[in-house]
Order: sequence, then C-alpha cells, then structure tokens
Amino acid sequence: MGGQLVEVLNARGHEVSGVDIVGDQVETLDITDFAATRDFITARKPDIVIHPAAWTDVDGCARDPERAVLVNGFGTQHIALGAAAAGAAVLYISSNEVFDGTASQPYREYDMTHPINPYGYSKWVGERALADINPRHYIVRTAWVFAHGGKNFIQAILGAAAAGKRLRIVANEVANPTYNDDLVDALALLIETERYGIYHLTNEGYCSRYAFARYFLDKAGYADVPAEPIAGQEWQRLSTPPVYASLANHAGRHIGITLRPWQEAVDAFLEKEGLLSIGKSSES
Ligand SMILES: NC(=O)c1ccc[n+]([C@@H]2O[C@H](COP(=O)([O-])OP(=O)(O)OC[C@H]3O[C@@H](n4cnc5c(N)ncnc54)[C@H](OP(=O)(O)O)[C@@H]3O)[C@@H](O)[C@H]2O)c1
Repeated sequence: MGGQLVEVLNARGHEVSGVDIVGDQVETLDITDFAATRDFITARKPDIVIHPAAWTDVDGCARDPERAVLVNGFGTQHIALGAAAAGAAVLYISSNEVFDGTASQPYREYDMTHPINPYGYSKWVGERALADINPRHYIVRTAWVFAHGGKNFIQAILGAAAAGKRLRIVANEVANPTYNDDLVDALALLIETERYGIYHLTNEGYCSRYAFARYFLDKAGYADVPAEPIAGQEWQRLSTPPVYASLANHAGRHIGITLRPWQEAVDAFLEKEGLLSIGKSSES
C-alpha cells in the first residue's frame, strides 16, 4: 500500500518522500526508533505523514503481542509525536480488527471498538495514541486488501486451485474485500479534504471469505473446482479473527468518497492480472 501511495501521490503532483524499514528503493526508517522517526519527520517538514507501516502478520502478532504493540502501537505514537513537532497532519491506516466481530450489521466509524486479538489490539493502540497526540488526523480503517504484486488471499486461493489442491474456505468470517488500487485513490482524495476524523474505506458491500473465493474462482475459470465451506473454528491458526467485521462507509460518503462494489473491483483486479476468464459482473 505504501509503495503504491508514493506512485499515486507523485502522479497527482504532491512532493513525496517514501521511507520503509528495508530501504531498498527509498530511505530506511524503523518506526520503533522514536528519535529517528521524529528526526526524519521534522527534517522534512511535511504537510502530512501518511502511515501504512505495520507488522501485519496477524499470527506473528498473536505469538509476540509485545512486539505487535511496539511496532503498531508505539510506532504510531512516534509518528504522531514527530508530526505534531513538525506541525504536520497524520493519516494512519487501521483495521476492521479493532472491532470484536459480534455485530449483526456493518460497523460505523464511531461504533465502540473492542479488539479481540493482539494484532487488533496493537492497531487500536495506534489509533488511541494518534487521536490523543495530534488532532489533525485521519484514521482510515480498511479490510481484506488485495493488491498487485503482493501476497494475498486471491493469489493464494487461485494458486491452490491451479495446483489441484483441495480448497476449504471459512464461511462464517465476514468483511469487505478491498482493492488496493481503489483504496489508494480514495486516500489521495481524502488527504486533500482536510476533513479530519475516522473513516471506513473499503469497496462497497461485504461477504464471507467463502463467497469472496467462490466469486473470483468462478470469474477466473475455476467454476467447476469445488470449494468446501468450513467454520472458522475448523481452520487452526494462532490469531482469532473477529467473525463479523464488515465496515460501513458513512463518513467518506458524506464527503463524496466511496469505492465501487467489491465484485467490480475483483473483476478489475483479475483483468489487470490477465486472469479474468468470464465477463464483468454487470454482464453475468
Ligand atoms: N492487507 C490487509 O488486508 C489490511 C487490512 C486492514 C488494514 N491493513 C493495514 O493497512 C496497512 C498496510 O498494509 P499492507 O497490506 O500494505 O501491509 P504490508 O505489505 O505488510 O506493509 C507494511 C509495511 O510496513 C513495514 N514495516 C514493518 N515494521 C516496520 C517498522 N518497524 N518500521 C517501518 N516499517 C515497518 C513492512 O516492512 P516488512 O515487510 O519488511 O516487514 C511493510 O513494508 C497496515 O497498517 C495494515 O495494518 C491491511
């Protein structure tokens, strides 16, 4: 997400300094280092710091919750403090996993958060730290992001289907599939509004992981490949995802920022990857 943000914001005429922990194409910064983070930001005097960096390995976070809070929580605090010192706003990318998943309808932006796993807790600590330190903030929660060039659910399932593996997919976990291309465009619009606050930016609509997989399997030419719907409890993993954690975009809609329906976004993703084998959703 960070890499694509740099490209899209540059193309929109912004002057962008990219940074990451590896630093192979951009400068290196570890956000767990407070002094380095503060100095990096204050030296550049940005108008805004956009912060998608995180330890996103949810099972890793469950194994090492302290580290999760260090990177996702205190790393965000360091950025918030550095930005406040530089007079900059902050946009922080957060997650639907700050909610507990017991709702029966999509979560709105100001619904009560209650994370139930260490990754969600660490992202929530980041939200709290930013909100406490810097009033000029956007907290953007998103969910189930799929992107070109990254490791993601679509590529993993299509790869397994192509290899003839048995497919078992969780049917009782619900959220919003979100195309990184669409999200990044929405973020670029949002930072130009200066309408600070909490946002839920995902593609429109929601579904189970099973329905998501069935949709792209069918579209990519695997309609006759069986997939078995299973309960989340049957899929052994360290982290416990919230069961029903779909997000509703009220705040973005209020200022004219919405993303297309997830099915159209999946079609666009598959088409760009050269994997779309049957027509777009509007034709089916
Ligand atoms: N992907 C999703 O489905 C999803 C859903 C909801 C919310 N989000 C949020 O969206 C944001 C972007 O996600 P993504 O999918 O682009 O994740 P990603 O590919 O894992 O990107 C996160 C980046 O942060 C870097 N990073 C990790 N620790 C760091 C540190 N201490 N200092 C500086 N950089 C560090 C990572 O570097 P390494 O790769 O070298 O560790 C990686 O380049 C994250 O905040 C995530 O919590 C993602």
